[in-house]
Amino acid sequence: MKIASNKLIDLYKYYQTELASNYDASEIEAIFDLVCEHFLNFSKSEVKLAYQSHINQSDVLNIYLLVKELKTNKPIQYILGEAWFYDLKFKVNAHTLIPRPETEELVDLIIRDLKKQTLNADFKLLDIGTGSGCIPISLKKHLAHTTVCAIDISNEALEVAKYNAEKNNTLVEWKCLNILDESSWLDTSYSVIVSNPPYVKKGEAAKMDERVLQHEPHLALFVEEDDDIIFYKKIIQFCDKHLCPGGYLYFELNPLTSNQVKNYADEFKIFNFTEIMVDMSGKARFLKAIKK
Ligand SMILES: C[S@@+](CC[C@H](N)C(=O)[O-])C[C@H]1O[C@@H](n2cnc3c(N)ncnc32)[C@H](O)[C@@H]1O
Repeated sequence: MKIASNKLIDLYKYYQTELASNYDASEIEAIFDLVCEHFLNFSKSEVKLAYQSHINQSDVLNIYLLVKELKTNKPIQYILGEAWFYDLKFKVNAHTLIPRPETEELVDLIIRDLKKQTLNADFKLLDIGTGSGCIPISLKKHLAHTTVCAIDISNEALEVAKYNAEKNNTLVEWKCLNILDESSWLDTSYSVIVSNPPYVKKGEAAKMDERVLQHEPHLALFVEEDDDIIFYKKIIQFCDKHLCPGGYLYFELNPLTSNQVKNYADEFKIFNFTEIMVDMSGKARFLKAIKK
């Protein structure tokens, strides 16, 4: 198919036709919005208003050329090298997970909880398994007076996270560390610990979306051990030693194992409150716990 003219609407029609066998209509619309934001600096609402505008030839070419790569099912965020999260732009690459809307909900939940408190630099937050740094950077942006730290086992992911902190003008302390290895744990206590850890058993890979499997880092998705809640258990053990009394733990959960995680947290007897919360689609997605 040829593009009928250099009007934005004709580029959109081109995307609709060419990508119809890879994506559904709403996905194509979302992809097109991201492409227009990237190349034309249009916000989502501006895209539709600009449908009849003529686009300059070099932008038409850039937008046209992306289609070939999109047809390989590579996520648009990896093609553009960026993703939006909680109104901030983050660099992403093959070493970092694409931040998900559920994680934005988690960040929103934490910010709303913590805004009620008096915060200062002694109030330390730790994000475990930080990836692109989307969680700590968004938290620091909205809870500016706190001290925010983040760890990941991947040096490559941490490089991306550091870049994102700088781009978004935030100060976060980074550390490369394997949370499953107790001997590497830091000798610091935190007021808040948050994590969206890997939680997929390798055996479940066959049921997963090809786009995720082929392009997202397996280190961010899969648990090595034959225990799909190993990270949650280790982080709860970490909380025993490194979460301050009265401190908060927040997890993003796999809805399939949410009850297992809550039961483990309750049996560990270090929390006086644990609650599973649902996400916008009604799935058991978050755990909030308060230490005794
Ligand atoms: C599900 S991703 C979450 C990334 C990011 N926090 C987000 O929500 O988009 C899990 C992260 O945990 C990191 N990770 C995997 N194993 C780890 C380990 N043993 N210790 C610390 N981090 C680990 C991965 O590199 C990955 O960045």
